[in-house]
Amino acid sequence: MNNVEQTLSIIKPDAVERNLIDQIKSIFVKNDLRIKDNKKISISKEEAAEFYKVHQSKPFYNDLCNYLSSGPIVVMILEGKDAISKNRKIMGATDPKDADEDTIRKLYGISIDKNSVHGSDSLENAKKEINFFFNN
Ligand code: CMP
Repeated sequence: MNNVEQTLSIIKPDAVERNLIDQIKSIFVKNDLRIKDNKKISISKEEAAEFYKVHQSKPFYNDLCNYLSSGPIVVMILEGKDAISKNRKIMGATDPKDADEDTIRKLYGISIDKNSVHGSDSLENAKKEINFFFNN
């Protein structure tokens, strides 16, 4: 099938804490993104730092790593046609205040840090990020 891709999605601590896992998963499924695998985990600050290494020069890096390791998260492999770009569209802009109506970040995001979800931004990063959490 053409353009069937896999991407990594994370439901971040703010959304897990507010019991939004099922609502967020149902948005992916409604949009024809199959949840191929998923698990609820907690990661250390060191693991978060490794995951977000691409942002290591950014001023928000330390806070970002503290935040992702502050509570349970759900990591998922989403699969479907154009999954990477589709997931990014469904998530909405990084900052919830700039996100389009009906996107996950507009519906549930609290701030640019507590923006409820993460999604891979390219095919290359999707492969790396899936491998980071699922080793397959
Ligand atoms: P995410 O898609 O997980 O990728 C990196 C995260 O850094 C981003 O979502 C935001 O939650 C967070 N972040 C904090 N400040 C900024 C910023 N100024 N620009 C981009 N991302 C930021």
